[in-house]
Amino acid sequence: MVSVASWGQVTMISKYLSMVILLSTVRLTDGGDVHVTCVFSEDCVMPCSFQPGSEEVIHWLKTEDKDLTVHSYYYSTDQLKQQSLRYRRRTALFNDQIHKGNASLLLSTLTLQDQGRYKCYTSTIRGNQDSLIDISVEAPVRLVDIQLSDDIITCSSKDIYPEPKLTWSTDLPFDLPLDPGTIQPSTKVDDQGLYNITSTKQFSRDRTNICTVTSGTRGETATLRQQDPVQCSPSSEVSIPCRVPQSDLLTFNLTWRFNQIVTILSATYTQGTPQMYINDQWKEQVQNMSESGSLQLHRLTVIHQGNYSCELSTSRDTHLVLTYLEITPDKLSAGTIVVVTIAAAATATAVGVLLYLKKRDREETSSKGEGNSDNQVNEHKELNQPLNEGGEERKTEGQPVAEGDEE
Ligand SMILES: *[C@@H]1O[C@H](CO)[C@@H](O)[C@H](O)[C@H]1NC(C)=O
Ligand SMILES: *[C@@H]1O[C@H](CO)[C@@H](O)[C@H](O)[C@H]1NC(C)=O
Ligand SMILES: *[C@@H]1O[C@H](CO)[C@@H](O)[C@H](O)[C@H]1NC(C)=O
Ligand SMILES: *[C@@H]1O[C@H](CO)[C@@H](O)[C@H](O)[C@H]1NC(C)=O
Ligand SMILES: *[C@@H]1O[C@H](CO)[C@@H](O)[C@H](O)[C@H]1NC(C)=O
Repeated sequence: MVSVASWGQVTMISKYLSMVILLSTVRLTDGGDVHVTCVFSEDCVMPCSFQPGSEEVIHWLKTEDKDLTVHSYYYSTDQLKQQSLRYRRRTALFNDQIHKGNASLLLSTLTLQDQGRYKCYTSTIRGNQDSLIDISVEAPVRLVDIQLSDDIITCSSKDIYPEPKLTWSTDLPFDLPLDPGTIQPSTKVDDQGLYNITSTKQFSRDRTNICTVTSGTRGETATLRQQDPVQCSPSSEVSIPCRVPQSDLLTFNLTWRFNQIVTILSATYTQGTPQMYINDQWKEQVQNMSESGSLQLHRLTVIHQGNYSCELSTSRDTHLVLTYLEITPDKLSAGTIVVVTIAAAATATAVGVLLYLKKRDREETSSKGEGNSDNQVNEHKELNQPLNEGGEERKTEGQPVAEGDEE
């Protein structure tokens, strides 16, 4: 209890101290700067506050070689004649908050050029103050794309800032730091200053291939695994499983693709409830998707033979599972063979029984008269002929039983 109480006190004191520090950075002219990190192409609120008072004057400047005017306000209105072109139509004060001492500026559609130090100058009849705000812009890794082609895996991600790093690993605990065949990642920077990163590696068939792209303190992972092939025949139904590491997820996207290009179906799960979309060209084949994400197909033809990929993506990572589906013609399928065998066996038995009955019949009638029996055999000639040999065999088997019966 003592430690809890003292911890609580420490937290309170540190909160109080940080408030004091925050207030002093805003108040004091040359105190520590306020640091704000915003996201590329999104909006950013640059904080600034002052002691409320009438006749407010607000100047937001960007301090570079020469100060740029970002936004000005006086005589109770925005004054944008001096505004730098770079900030045209991208800035707004919270006008209803100014009288409360809030001079924060909303800057929209951030670019990397917006990074740097800003000065917020405020003045009222009660005095004036300067505060400094440092803005950093990040373009976090959003999506890591992983593809397999001719046994080469390609992992890539784009539109990232600051410069990303890419690493490969597998699910094996002891692994070579660098697989043979790994090519050092290459990065490219576009005219906005954003990075693309790509790396290729030999596919490790027997394990999960993991690619991680990090930028700053955040990262995203993509995994690729190949599972055992699945076989089916055109007339049968087939279920292709999607075995992914996590199954307790509630919010994710699941996409099934054919040969990695054609989207068969995609599902967006929010709080566990899927919203499913099925490609028109596959409506005939897609029967359903099970709760575990397995793809259930039917009415397949040879054109549906190929690689099926299940891609599960969350905000953190992407898992890709590849399965080769082999379509074998109906006559070779195990199911058909069983049916044919059973049918043949049943026919043979039926004919055998018939022959036995005929035989007994003939033996019984032969004691009465030969002519009669000949007529009966001729009547059933067509039925007997294809199975003459079988009939002959059964003759020897049938007789002892018949004799036993008579005893
Ligand atoms: C100023 O107002 C904006 C909009 O309501 C708010 O987001 C921001 O936190 C406020 N800033 C301060 C320093 O009060
Ligand atoms: C980054 O990748 C995207 C998509 O692959 C491409 O459109 C863009 O040109 C690439 N940028 C650079 C600098 O290579
Ligand atoms: C499809 O699968 C879901 C479970 O994922 C099940 O509730 C539903 O009844 C199935 N629909 C059909 C037509 O089989
Ligand atoms: C399916 O994947 C295998 C193994 O990666 C590859 O060799 C084959 O060419 C692929 N087939 C098709 C039709 O893409
Ligand atoms: C799922 O897909 C939708 C639409 O493409 C996208 O807006 C959303 O961010 C995705 N969600 C996840 C968790 O990847």
